[in-house]
Amino acid sequence: MRRLNILAATVAVSCSFLTGCQVRSPGSFETRLMQGTKRRITVGGRSDANPLASTNENIRAGQRNFASYCMVCHGLDGQTTGVPFADRMAPPVPPLNSASVQAYTDGQLHWIIENGVSPSGMPASKGIFREEETWQLVLYIRNLPPKGSLGEPQVYGGTGCSGANCAH
Ligand code: HEC
Repeated sequence: MRRLNILAATVAVSCSFLTGCQVRSPGSFETRLMQGTKRRITVGGRSDANPLASTNENIRAGQRNFASYCMVCHGLDGQTTGVPFADRMAPPVPPLNSASVQAYTDGQLHWIIENGVSPSGMPASKGIFREEETWQLVLYIRNLPPKGSLGEPQVYGGTGCSGANCAH
């Protein structure tokens, strides 16, 4: 857990202060082309099924890990609430409840979490989460709370929950 927090803080600092996260935005045609290619070719794991049941317990476990690490860019609610640089990344950090993200299969979401999205600011998490924890993150992405309902992350001065204290 401590290791995760340090990692999250490092990511936050490098994205808020360096220019690496603020390159030119691609045009909408470019973006659509990339989205299509990503969904069909680049992103693996299409037919891998989630071995875990969508129970409250699994969703909450996913939420807790999300709140320790992913929230630095995605916000506690997966919809970038309180993340100051989310729309300045290129491509911007998408709301994870959007139709385009939800169109991925569970296996593809699992693949994205492990391998990241290249080239973009979305990092690979392979080795950070156990297999089961990665599938729990997928369940959390499928069951996100309403936008803003969890407050803003404490790393950005908000009063939202942090890490293990986060529950639905
Ligand atoms: C350093 C910031 C950062 C962190 C940390 C981060 N992400 Fe992302 N994430 C991004 C960005 C930027 C994108 C947009 C990538 C793109 O569209 O190419 C993204 C996209 C995504 C997508 C959608 C991918 C797509 O093709 O539309 C998912 C799902 C996702 N992230 C899940 C997670 C999860 C789960 C975690 C924690 C394990 C996490 N992210 C951690 C920045 C981050």
